[in-house]
Amino acid sequence: MSVRDLVIQAIYLAASVLFILGLKSLSHPDKARLGMQQAALGMVLAIVGTLFHHEILRFDLIAVALILGTVIGYPLGMFVPMTAMPQRIAISHMFGALAATLVGVAEYRIYGAGMPRGTMAALGFEVLFGALTVTGSFMAFGKLQEFITGTPVTYRGQNAVNITLFGVAIAMFVYLIFRPGTPMVFYGMIGLALLLGVFMVLPIGGADMPVVVSLLNSYAGLASSATGFVIQNNVLIICGALDGASGFLLSVLMSKAMNRSFGNVIFGAFGAPAPALAAGGAGKDLTVSSVSAEDAAMRMAYAGAVIVVPGYGMAVAQAQHVVRELAELLEKRGVTVKYAIHPVAGRMPGHMNVLLAEANVPYDRLYDMEDINSEFPQADVALVIGANDVVNPAARSDPSSPIYGMPILDVDRAKGVIVLKRSMNPGFAGIENHLFYAPNTSMLFGDAKSSLTRLVSEVKAL
Ligand code: TAP
Repeated sequence: MSVRDLVIQAIYLAASVLFILGLKSLSHPDKARLGMQQAALGMVLAIVGTLFHHEILRFDLIAVALILGTVIGYPLGMFVPMTAMPQRIAISHMFGALAATLVGVAEYRIYGAGMPRGTMAALGFEVLFGALTVTGSFMAFGKLQEFITGTPVTYRGQNAVNITLFGVAIAMFVYLIFRPGTPMVFYGMIGLALLLGVFMVLPIGGADMPVVVSLLNSYAGLASSATGFVIQNNVLIICGALDGASGFLLSVLMSKAMNRSFGNVIFGAFGAPAPALAAGGAGKDLTVSSVSAEDAAMRMAYAGAVIVVPGYGMAVAQAQHVVRELAELLEKRGVTVKYAIHPVAGRMPGHMNVLLAEANVPYDRLYDMEDINSEFPQADVALVIGANDVVNPAARSDPSSPIYGMPILDVDRAKGVIVLKRSMNPGFAGIENHLFYAPNTSMLFGDAKSSLTRLVSEVKAL
């Protein structure tokens, strides 16, 4: 091994260690920023190491690519709002998968016919999963950005069509391993994979996209890892494998927290309008009590313990800063305020943690579901801010409910519940929530941010 190769491998090793440390740090909110910095430094090292390769003959094109990447990447990172993060991540995966696919195509054009079987297997895998991820991620981006309908698009025999297409693509892949010099099959497989990406995501509801995005993230990671084998690049193998494994685990964790199987997410067409609601819903015979901001403020100001339960509506309203302001006012009056965080509250993993951290809510006030659930019976007020499914008691009590078995925050067991939302509309799962009709629940209707602003001024006035 030449000195140059030794230097490259040492840089790649350092980059890989930084990626692993970055992932480790990301598993805790107070180290998450450090984790991002470690991973970013790892990426800089990986790029620098690659620039030492003796195969690189011209740097001008690389410079153009770096500038182009920066021009696209900087605004994506700096200016896209937190609420648009899921679609931003989806489009980033599309770029990653596109890079892996294009590298695969370039390698095939250079070495295609004479490629050893092992390399062809890695390359075939790379372009198959890479191409599928390109269009799949673009579809996920479109559904989240709402220029493609978020409603599941289904037709009879859809799963059979998708499975058959996938089977044909796999058959082409296997054929290529034994007959690499067949470009028609190679490009045909890519075309089929691109089509599959579209077909696979079409029947999935917009709100299930975060699970799909993290699954596609795992495909992009595996495709990159395969690219590493093809071009013999260790850092690509390692970071692709990290990406593949963490993306897959994240999808599993999300599905578990929603108490849904992978199959249900991919084939369940979840998020279609619920027939019960279309017919008026079970709530038509039940009564709802609403509360004024003045009364709600009074109840919280004179409470001993308040548990704040944020949900997707807090993210939509961007109410996290006012929540903190209200909590601080209450704490000054001697009220104990804790935040209950459900693992799938909002629309992406860690959504609530990120928003509350942005508003400088201290981490030690944030409690995971399993740690806070036993405290609800002692809480005088559970303040539900734009949360719905994650506090729906039907998950515990109604076996016919689509969310039956999903772990929830036991808000209904608090002495009193105040719910901030705009209407009686359902949440993501499209189902009725009897919590809103419970005798200990009061609704404060309106946009969460403006309701909280009113609560803040009422508490100040006391
Ligand atoms: P949801 O059940 O989606 O309910 C959100 C509620 O917020 C709605 O009922 C809505 O009612 C209210 N809302 C919307 N905008 C508002 C505003 N400006 N001000 C006040 N309220 C507003 O949210 P959740 O309880 O956080 O549950 C999350 C759901 O998403 C779960 O079903 C979960 O399985 C699913 N999901 C989560 C993830 C991840 S990883 N977090 C991924 C995929 C799916 P109004 O319209 O009446 O205001």
